Order: sequence, then C-alpha cells, then structure tokens
Amino acid sequence: MINVSLTDKKFWENEVEGYIFLLKEDLQSIGNNDELKKIEKDFYPNLRNILKKHKFTGKFGQSFVLTATRDNSLIQFVFIGMGKLQDKWNIELENLRRAIGSAVNILKKLDIKNAVINIPDEKIFGLVKPRLVRQIVLISYIADYEFEKYKSDKTLSQWKGELILCVKKEDEQVYAQSLKEGKIIGQSTNLARDFSDLPANYLTPASLAEQAKKIAVQYGLQYKVFGREKAAEYGMGGFLAVDSGSDEEGKFVVLEYSCEKKDAPTIALVGKGVTFDSGGISLKPSAYMEGMKFDMSGAATVIATMNAIAQLQPKINVVGITPLVENMPSGKACKQDDIITFMNGKTAEIKNTDAEGRLILADALCYAEKFYKPEVILDIATLTGACLFALGHFFTGLMTRDEIVGTKLQAISLVSGDRVWPLPMDNDFKDAIKSDVADIANCGAPNYKAGTITAAWFLSNFVQNAKWAHLDIAGTADSVPGISYFGKGSTGAGVRLFVDFIMNYTK
Ligand code: BES
Ligand code: MG
Ligand code: ZN
Repeated sequence: MINVSLTDKKFWENEVEGYIFLLKEDLQSIGNNDELKKIEKDFYPNLRNILKKHKFTGKFGQSFVLTATRDNSLIQFVFIGMGKLQDKWNIELENLRRAIGSAVNILKKLDIKNAVINIPDEKIFGLVKPRLVRQIVLISYIADYEFEKYKSDKTLSQWKGELILCVKKEDEQVYAQSLKEGKIIGQSTNLARDFSDLPANYLTPASLAEQAKKIAVQYGLQYKVFGREKAAEYGMGGFLAVDSGSDEEGKFVVLEYSCEKKDAPTIALVGKGVTFDSGGISLKPSAYMEGMKFDMSGAATVIATMNAIAQLQPKINVVGITPLVENMPSGKACKQDDIITFMNGKTAEIKNTDAEGRLILADALCYAEKFYKPEVILDIATLTGACLFALGHFFTGLMTRDEIVGTKLQAISLVSGDRVWPLPMDNDFKDAIKSDVADIANCGAPNYKAGTITAAWFLSNFVQNAKWAHLDIAGTADSVPGISYFGKGSTGAGVRLFVDFIMNYTK
C-alpha cells in the first residue's frame, strides 16, 4: 500500500530510493529544471542523450527508468513523459493524473520503498496549488489499488511505499488539508472498488449491508436497514419484484450524515445495488452475464461517498440510499407481463425482467422524497447496456432536466477526471415507455432505441419535488481500458464526482 506524505525538504535533500521527473517533449521538467541538472552533474553527464538513445522523447505515455549507485546502494530515476502541454487545461490535468498513475505503477513494479516528486507548476493545470496537491494525492491512492484478495501471489498489494511531495515550508499547513482530503477521497474510491470487485458469492445484499453498518459505526453515521417484510409494508413493489427470485434476501440500506447547521439542505444519493444481475426470467445469455457482479457499483459508490462525507464533514445533510438485491430466476421470480405497484402508487408492466435496476431505484427515489425532502437527488446505476454504445467507457451518462445541477456536475467532472456527458432528456423519448395495461412499461419500445434515455424517463416518474440528475455508469464502473491509474476491474466511478459536488454545494 502507498502512503503519500509532504516534506519541506528540497527535492534532492531527500535520501530516497526513487526520484520522479515529469518531462515535456523538449525534455525539460514541468517543475524545476534544477532537479535534472543534479543528475547530469553527479550521475549521468549525458542524460539527455541517454534518454534519446532509449527513445524517450517526453511524449505523453512514455516512461523510462535509469538506475544509479549512491553510497553503495541503488537509486532509481523515473522519467515520465508529459507531451507538449499545450492542450486545454482539463486535458492536461487528466494527463498529469495518468502520469502520476504511471509513476506509481513503476514504484510498485520495481518495489521502490520511497520516492520523491516536486509539485509541478500549477499554472499549466488551471488549478490553485492546494487543489493540485489534492489531485496528486488522491490519484496516487487510486493508482495503488489492487484486487488480489483471492490470489495466492499478493506481491503488488503487499508493496509498502512512500510517495513524498516536496512543498514549501510556509505552505505546509494548507497542503496538509489537501493531503488529508486527497487521502480520504482516494481511499473511499478504493473502498467502492473493493465492494464492486468482490464477486456475488462473497458480496451479497446482507454482506454489503454489514459493510455499510461498519462504516456508520466507525464514523458516526445513522444506519438503517430493512428487508422484505418492511419493504412490503412500504409498498415497494419494485424492490420486491426483483428481490423475489433470489434465496438471498434483499436489504434496503440507508446511511445518514447530518451536519450541525440548522435548516441545512439535504442531498440524497441513490445507488443501484444489484449484487448479481442474471437477468432473471429474461435470463441473459452467458456472454452478457460476465461482469454482472459489478451491477452493484452504484450502491458501492453511494456507500463509499458516505464514507468520505462522514470524514470531510460538509455543512449540508447527505443521505445515501441503496436498495441491495440479487436478480435471479426461480419459481418465485417476477415474470414478464407481471404488473407491479411502486411505493408512490404508480404501476408498471414488466416487459423484461432484465430491466430490474430501474425497478429498485424507483422505490428508492420514492423513499428519498418521502422521508428526506431532499433539495437534490443524484442517482447512480449501471443501468443500461445501451450507455456503453452511446458513450463507451470514459464518460458516465448524465441525464437531468435541471440545467444548473447538470452544468455543475459536468464542470466538476471535467476537473476531477470522473467524467460525465449529457444525454438529452427530451419529451420525445417519453412515449417510449407507454404501456397498454399499466401506467408505464419497464422498458422502452424497441423502435425508440436510446435505451439509456428511456430508462431515465422511467425513473422520472418517481421524483416529484427534488432537483434530480441520473447517472448511468454502465460503461465507466469497470473494465475501463487504457488509463494508467485504473488497471483491471472496478473504477469507483462517481465517488470523486459526488464528493466534489457535495463539498462545493451552494443553492
Ligand atoms: N445491468 C444491466 C445493464 C448493463 C449491461 C450494465 C452491460 C453493464 C454492462 C441492466 O440491468 C440491464 O440488463 N439492462 C438491459 C435493459 C433492457 C432489458 C431494457 C439492457 O441494457 O440490455
Ligand atoms: Mg460485486
Ligand atoms: Zn438487468
């Protein structure tokens, strides 16, 4: 595991095993070039020629390691390419995150116990320095994540390394706060990833509920949980329909964070928690069932966000609501053509039992409005395969009819790297979920296509008063290719976005 720390010592005053350099295409440092002069003076006079000989030109995505000897022990110089740095600043910031990701990967692979890096020039990245430090810290933790629990060889996760950031002494207090926040957010993102990466034979509705309870006890959140019986009392026909097919009883879990401030607004987070999505009676073909352990990633994000919020203590109230179920076929499972009634009295015709996420979310949205009167509801779900076709793996689908919340989410997402992109919530899509026999149908008519948007229209039936945005993380929650700081498996999509949205919330 990594530990990130601060020092006011100058770069070369740190006696460490690794020295990290972020270089542009002209092979100049993006921080302070004195870092490099020292290598040329004491170790490699021909440094730039050596780099060129090894085809390291500072292009983005390149990395190179040079080993030297100091006082009879080995030290490593780790060079990371940063490209030309003339793109839009939010792209440069993303490239910086990936460069840090590559550096952490190298530290781990070479088992470097401690390494030092200079904080680069913040002007390139359009952030004030404390924000930049926060980004570097949180992405270092995210890059360090491994899911090796069920591997005999745990080499990577057993790595213990220190990444030391050099800062000026007079700024240390400010940066200490950045360090703290970055660590909380990075570790919370990894917590969400741990939940999601766990397969459904270990992570059941009951076991995830237990994990949520542990967090509540540790950080002083209110924890509520109920199962089938209470759900029936509330009239949660959506939750019960999905839950009915499984031998594992579903759990409806609520985590509450209350601030001291009177009359503070409440933000509700609602996350889809299908611990395994077989499709139910509308059984998925095997090839499409692979990865369906990740179908509780929305709930993982909500619980992990509450884990961060409990520590960061914002001056608003936050409630995290996660319906947890397993979608299975059985003699008790809900069937196609069934008609169910939700907590708000609306009815839906089940056209496909594999469109189950929206059924549990519908009741959870009702529950949020009824008991918390939130100013804003953000729901997050691995809801539709269609979202993968619309946006791929790098952008979460954002659907909202509230322009202010939508604009804020998108802006925050581009800075945090936890990116979202809007899809149109136009009235034209609304008719797609008409039903001949119930108020609405649980999936859009095929001739309308746009399954991601029609799913959002379905959900809109269950929000009355709150400003509401829906996030579809079917593409971003796991298996994202080509990003150095992610690796395989879950990404914790939405944790960074939610935390920043909440911490910056103003009406
Ligand atoms: N969990 C899936 C969505 C999904 C698919 C997430 C692929 C990640 C990768 C969801 O429950 C589902 O099966 N949705 C159906 C809806 C359809 C039946 C209207 C889908 O997208 O095919
Ligand atoms: Mg799982
Ligand atoms: Zn499904």
